[in-house]
Amino acid sequence: MRRLGVSLLFASLAVAQSSYNESHRWWNSNQDEILPWDSEYDNPTGQLRISNRNGSFRTGNHPFFKALGSNGRACVTCHQPSNAMSLSVANIRDRWETTGGKDPLFAAIDGSNCPSLPQSDPRSHSLLLNRGLFRVALPWPPANIQPDFRIQVLRDPTGCNAGKGEISVYRRPRMSANLPDLVPGPAGAVLMADGRAADLRAQAIDAALVHEQAHSAPDAESLRRILDFEGQVYATQYADVRGGLLSQLSEPATGVQQSFRNSATRGKLVFGERCASCHQPGTNRWRRLESSNLPDLPLFRVTCDSGKVIETQDPGRGLITGRCADVGAIVIPQFHGLASRPPYFSNGSAATLTDLIASYEKRLGITLTPTQKEDLANYLLTL
Ligand code: HEC
Ligand code: HEC
Repeated sequence: MRRLGVSLLFASLAVAQSSYNESHRWWNSNQDEILPWDSEYDNPTGQLRISNRNGSFRTGNHPFFKALGSNGRACVTCHQPSNAMSLSVANIRDRWETTGGKDPLFAAIDGSNCPSLPQSDPRSHSLLLNRGLFRVALPWPPANIQPDFRIQVLRDPTGCNAGKGEISVYRRPRMSANLPDLVPGPAGAVLMADGRAADLRAQAIDAALVHEQAHSAPDAESLRRILDFEGQVYATQYADVRGGLLSQLSEPATGVQQSFRNSATRGKLVFGERCASCHQPGTNRWRRLESSNLPDLPLFRVTCDSGKVIETQDPGRGLITGRCADVGAIVIPQFHGLASRPPYFSNGSAATLTDLIASYEKRLGITLTPTQKEDLANYLLTL
């Protein structure tokens, strides 16, 4: 992330001291710093606040911030405070340029298009560098399940779908913040794009074994501390360059601030009319969206026992349940901190919120006026 001079405008608002500074624009694994109670991070339209509600601690020996496996990565490598505990493409590119591609972020296992490619060549990491995507390799067919569809690989631009017994898809990191607020299902929150993690504990074990290439699961005490941290860290847009403090959005202001506040308020109404059918509090289960067709991602043809044929770049939930009805369904993500973590969608296909809104006009077959689009974007920037 680059600082854009926004901090000058916010000099009077910065109530908490952030440990984020020019010398380290991102948090490295094993970095020993104070993670403060509250910290603010500039983004292009304002500031994000990270609330570490149980109070500040040193990160040096904390299992979320410490490398747990063999490739030098920690959870924080891909879940950065300045990016609302997700990871923006700006941050990824900055790290490639600064470290000459040596940051553990780019580890062959899932930080490259395929581990078999020459790792020093940036083209081998194009999905991560261009769209913030990590490779997610899932067993196919799933263990102990007889799927009601077959998968054929129509296009394999990364060369990682040539083998048997596994399907590779490419996905953005989801936020590891605000987790207690995610709508709980019968077995806890629905986690990951395909809902495959039973709970946060299972998710953390899997992340250590896969992303961090640990030889064994983290010990009980490390797991407890990771879950404690995840249970109390919150990320939300806090202030907007135009609109001021977002906690005061409904209060009267003057000039520029008032016109931004009016716009965001109208945008919320547009959202309620056009978007809330899928995005309603209490319904963040998986949903199907008309799939994109990006030339650098694999393309699969799914043939269901019913005869139905679906072409998709990520079979989503279907890879876990083996059910045709779930093919292409992705768990609805939370909407916080959008200004700090472009690009958007699990396949990173929308570089900006303007692109995201344009993609919905096409997908949903709706037309929004330029003002409605601006209002909608302004609303999304306040979350
Ligand atoms: C190499 C990058 C990387 C590392 C390291 C990493 N993650 Fe993730 N994380 C991801 C990706 C990618 C996803 C989304 C995967 C998907 O949807 O299939 C994700 C998803 C998650 C989610 C799900 C959030 C939601 O709303 O669904 C949580 C929680 C999480 N990670 C926590 C952790 C923890 C804890 C660690 C360390 C033990 C960790 N991650 C290490 C990349 C990473
Ligand atoms: C048909 C259901 C549906 C409708 C209608 C819908 N969405 Fe979505 N939305 C989804 C799904 C499914 C995802 C997750 C897809 C993915 O990540 O690939 C999503 C993801 C998002 C995200 C998250 C981006 C991210 O990367 O964190 C935003 C923001 C969003 N939608 C905004 C909107 C807006 C604005 C509208 C109205 C114009 C809208 N949605 C209408 C289903 C829908």
